[in-house]
Amino acid sequence: MGDGPASRGDGRREADGTTDPVGAIGSDRSIEALLNELTLSEKVGQLNQLNGTDETGPSVGTVDLDAEIAAGRVGSMLNTDGMAARERYQRLAVEESRLGIPLLFGFDVVHGYETVFPTPLAEAASWDRETVRANAAAAAAETAAAGITWTFSPPCDVARDARWGRSMESSGEDPYLAAELTHERVRGYQGTDLAAPDTMLACVKHFVGYGDVLAGREYNTVDVSETALRERHLPPFEAAVEAGVGSVMTAFTDFERVPVGAHKGLLRDLLKDEWGFDGVVVSDWNSVRELLPHGIAVDEREAARAALEAGTDVDMVGHIYSKELEELVAEGTVAESLLDDAVRRVLETKRRLGLFEDPYRYFDDARRESVVGSERHREAAREGARESMVLLENDGMLPLTDAGTVAVGGALATEGTDVLGEWRARGDGDDAVPILAGIENAVDAARIEFVEGYDRFGETTPEKRDELVETVAGADVAVLAVGEPWELSGECSSRTDISLPGDQRAVLEAALETGTPVVTVILSGRPLAIPWTAENVPAVLEAWHPGSEGGNAVADVLFGDHSPSGKLPMSFPRTVGQVPLQYDELPTGRPEATAEPGWSSSYVDCPNDPLYAFGHGLSYTEFAYDDLAIGAQTISPTDHLDIEATVENIGERAGREVVQLYVRDVVGSRSRPTIELAGFEKISLEPGERRRVAFELGPKTLATWTADGERRVESGEFEVFVGRASDDLRLSNGFTVAE
Ligand code: NOJ
Repeated sequence: MGDGPASRGDGRREADGTTDPVGAIGSDRSIEALLNELTLSEKVGQLNQLNGTDETGPSVGTVDLDAEIAAGRVGSMLNTDGMAARERYQRLAVEESRLGIPLLFGFDVVHGYETVFPTPLAEAASWDRETVRANAAAAAAETAAAGITWTFSPPCDVARDARWGRSMESSGEDPYLAAELTHERVRGYQGTDLAAPDTMLACVKHFVGYGDVLAGREYNTVDVSETALRERHLPPFEAAVEAGVGSVMTAFTDFERVPVGAHKGLLRDLLKDEWGFDGVVVSDWNSVRELLPHGIAVDEREAARAALEAGTDVDMVGHIYSKELEELVAEGTVAESLLDDAVRRVLETKRRLGLFEDPYRYFDDARRESVVGSERHREAAREGARESMVLLENDGMLPLTDAGTVAVGGALATEGTDVLGEWRARGDGDDAVPILAGIENAVDAARIEFVEGYDRFGETTPEKRDELVETVAGADVAVLAVGEPWELSGECSSRTDISLPGDQRAVLEAALETGTPVVTVILSGRPLAIPWTAENVPAVLEAWHPGSEGGNAVADVLFGDHSPSGKLPMSFPRTVGQVPLQYDELPTGRPEATAEPGWSSSYVDCPNDPLYAFGHGLSYTEFAYDDLAIGAQTISPTDHLDIEATVENIGERAGREVVQLYVRDVVGSRSRPTIELAGFEKISLEPGERRRVAFELGPKTLATWTADGERRVESGEFEVFVGRASDDLRLSNGFTVAE
């Protein structure tokens, strides 16, 4: 390792006596020429993705990796451990295979490589486009410096059910917020030049609808209408394609009872043809084979045919394409033109990454040393974590003063992996700053007393509980870390009970009975149902799984170095019985607010509204809103409308505010949500400072999937709202769209 970039063609065998075709890519020979050189078996090889070491899915059997690579039967790999291993595999591909086509290396860099940023859901709570893009760029720099050029990220599933474990990978429940942030992440990862040493290929996933799995149960059926798919789930993917995303991963789940990996209407017709996506479509882990248990293919041969014909280009670890495709094409069952289209996409991606010019360009020890885990990235991780924390409750006890003793409780406060969260890539828990360490970094050690009280899953014993009560009683203030350890969210971590795990509530009750003021810091990968905590605990900070610098960021907020500005990207229910629960509900014929009592769409045992609404988040300062101006009372369906409002910091300290714009299309050919997010701006204001905040509403945001099955702006009345949260709309106005 580390002997620098090899010259092109180094040690490579020549193709059948012709000149070296690979070395010429990017200069005078084209991808087409290379495609023409490939045998059927080599073409299929480009679509075959094999696993390295860690398995991120059920076992799929092993193959002789070295032999397959040397035979030109592998196009890409995932989960390879270490740069030396990657360079060795690359040498095998380049120097041993007949045409020397380099490999692509993929990995799930979902919120950072070694420096771990807040989980995507947490980062979405920042509502901060710049932070999101910068974090993605930092993740790309680290990943590429470690010799990996393809991340399976950003996930842009719109998470509609808090029980779903993968909510933590999403940007929450709203398609507009998810689309905006997905756009930033794609740009952050890919930069402007994929061949640059600090960028990597992005992969939006999971196309499409996965965030609506029935009952929030992992991998379950998705049963949504085409309207729901178009309005809720497709927008972030379309935003990614507009941002130039280089690859798309299919969902395990179905649409209209056809698994998406075999759904020609979605993959080939919509994504590739209508949207013009020219990158690679990769299956999810073994999902081509899973067409069998889905019940839409009788055998592997049929699964391979269905997936390729639908538009799945690369088979992730399924070994189905490698077994079946060559014969299917040779006998004419599958058109070679379809195979060529898929191979062309893979080769073109390799060209864009600069791999044909220099297949070893990403293996540079010196760059890895200086970039991976750099101080600059750690600072960005701290800043990102601060921006993502949401202050749910505060009776005035926060920020904490610089006097008195602080009891810190809960095993969640001490574990590095619990600030990193699921999908931590190469993040090391021992290298992360847990909450206790963050507090120790912020205040004099003599002021802090740690007591475990309950384990990471919230379980306690009478002895542990008594010890906690005693410690809390003797302190001036208590900070208790509650919520979910990292294992309770992520892939295959759906929950039916989303309240505080284990005995946490009982311990909290006992701690509060001491009379010592208590702050709870929640670590979680999803919204939790915490009505008792909301009612009884004086200050509640949602910290999510905040990443490598999480503990320092928590301390920054608790002790007032940073005024919280995060806003919820997902509604917090009062009880799991309300789930799925979102702010952008459709109207019903008997709305709770106006129907005759006893005859409304409601529950007999719980209100309809959430405990904390989408967009909610408190600050240490106060903001006032006034003077909403809209550019016109009437616009045409193609017009843009300017909207402005004034926001003033009327509190005592500087702070950041997420100014939110919502619209309502009052009457249309189909019902539309009672309100929908249509814009947001995050601004910084000094005490007393006023700022005019401008938005532009255009056809893209106002359009809807109409009853005629087309996307357009319908004429009629629209309402506009500007405010602090979906349940705290401060200003309103209206306009009309007329043909
Ligand atoms: C399965 C997950 O669904 C997907 O998101 C991930 O990229 C692959 N495994 C590879 O690890």
